[in-house]
Amino acid sequence: MKMLGSVIKANNENLRPRDKVLGVGGSPRKNGNSDVLLKQALNGVGREAIECGLVQLRDVQFQGCIGCEKCRKDQICTGLNDGMSLMYSQVITAKGLVLVSPTHNYNITAWMKAFIDRLYCFYEFANTRPRAWSSRLADQGRKAVLIAVCEQENEKDMGFTLEAMKIPLEALGYQVIGQQAVFRIFDKGKVKKDSKSLEKAFSLGRDLAKAVI
Ligand SMILES: Cc1cc2nc3c(=O)[nH]c(=O)nc-3n(C[C@H](O)[C@H](O)[C@H](O)COP(=O)(O)O)c2cc1C
Repeated sequence: MKMLGSVIKANNENLRPRDKVLGVGGSPRKNGNSDVLLKQALNGVGREAIECGLVQLRDVQFQGCIGCEKCRKDQICTGLNDGMSLMYSQVITAKGLVLVSPTHNYNITAWMKAFIDRLYCFYEFANTRPRAWSSRLADQGRKAVLIAVCEQENEKDMGFTLEAMKIPLEALGYQVIGQQAVFRIFDKGKVKKDSKSLEKAFSLGRDLAKAVI
């Protein structure tokens, strides 16, 4: 896909975000390392006294995009009616997004991938070939921070985890203002003992809050 944002004038008037941050956790493991890091990032957000929400994707009954393309006409996902239907308003209203995923097989988890795929409904496409496209979430000052955690010791082991969140979010119109890769953490909640990582997650959250106010 080639970005030709100016070709399409998206109608995004009713998608205006508020000064609010939404944290989205992609780990299936409750009280695991992603949960600790997300909580820490949201503590940083809270330091700036800004509205904040939290969604753990494992607690939401939703499925991945089925590619029905009904969203082309309806401008929101109408092909599925599930837990994601309730999450859209949270995504739309939050100017800031914190995404946290552990590495599963060199990539984001299936939960995080399904969540990102369901944001496909915010795209506008033209009838050119290849189709020009733009995002109805773009040009609204939306910003994001990303955190990934894995067991092994370097970027190669973490694979695409950060990129798999960053590239789609940027395509959707978010500016990614910071990211964190946490290595060598396997046991459930072990990252609680890694004070440097906790500090970094906190400061990412705080930076995000400052950036969206
Ligand atoms: C299905 C699965 C696949 C994994 N794949 C990788 C991997 O490719 N690289 C890696 O370094 N760690 C991998 N891990 C380890 C997790 O990333 C690590 O334990 C992480 O701390 C889990 O975070 P959580 O507690 O938030 O779930 C994998 C774990 C699981 C369960």
